[in-house]
Amino acid sequence: MEAKRVAAEKAVEYVADGMTVGLGTGSTTAYAIHKLGEMVKQGLKIKAVATSTRSETLAKELGIQLVAFADIDQIDLTIDGADEVDPEWNLIKGGGGALLREKIVAAASRRLIIIVDESKVVQRLGLFPLPVEVVPFGWELTMRKLADLGYNPRLRTENGKPYVTDNGNYILDCRIGLIDRPGQIHDRINSMVGVVDNGLFIGYASLVIVGYHDGTAKELPRKDEP
Ligand code: A5P
Repeated sequence: MEAKRVAAEKAVEYVADGMTVGLGTGSTTAYAIHKLGEMVKQGLKIKAVATSTRSETLAKELGIQLVAFADIDQIDLTIDGADEVDPEWNLIKGGGGALLREKIVAAASRRLIIIVDESKVVQRLGLFPLPVEVVPFGWELTMRKLADLGYNPRLRTENGKPYVTDNGNYILDCRIGLIDRPGQIHDRINSMVGVVDNGLFIGYASLVIVGYHDGTAKELPRKDEP
C-alpha cells in the first residue's frame, strides 16, 4: 500500500554505512526491508538484527547481512511499525505477534523510527486490542485475572489452535477501550504472574513517520505529556 511504502522509504534515509540496524516486523516494515535490500545491492554496508523469524527470512532472501543479537553491543537504529500511535508517541504494537522481541530490540537501540500509515495515528490508544504475551502454562488463570480487571482478553488463535509466538508463548488480545494512562496500564499488566510483556511501548520511539494516501510522508510532531 502506497502510504506504508512512502513512510518506509523515508525512514531508510536515516540508515548509513557501518550501522547495525534493527528490523521490525509487519507489512510496513517489510517495505523498509525491501528498500534496504536494494540499497545493500547498491553497496550499502550494514548489519541487521531481526525481531521475528519472518523478518529474518525476508532479510536473508534480500542479501542483508544478519547478526545474532548476542553478538552486538548496541543497535544504531531500528525501523518498526505500530498498530496505534498517540500524539505523545506512545504505541500499541504486537498485532503481528512480535511484540516481545520488538521491545527487546527497541530497548537496545539508540534510535527507534516508527513507520505507520495515517490510519494508525489516534488521539488516544486503545481501540486496537492490546496484545499481551503470556506463558502457556496456566494461561487460563492469567486470562481470568485480566478479565477481572475489565480488560476483555481473548486468546489469539491460528487455524483453530492457540497462536504461538517466536518465543513459544500465547497472546491474549485485550479490548480495554480508550486508555487514559498507558503507563499505568502497562505496569499493571506486566506485574501479573504469567504475563511476559504487553504491546504498550511507552517512551521508546525517537521519531514517527506517517505515510499518507496521497503519496507523501511526514514526521509526526510530538506533543509533550501534560
Ligand atoms: C508486529 O508484531 C507489530 O508490532 C507490527 O509492527 C504492527 O502490527 C504493524 O504491522 P503492519 O505494519 O503490518 O500494520
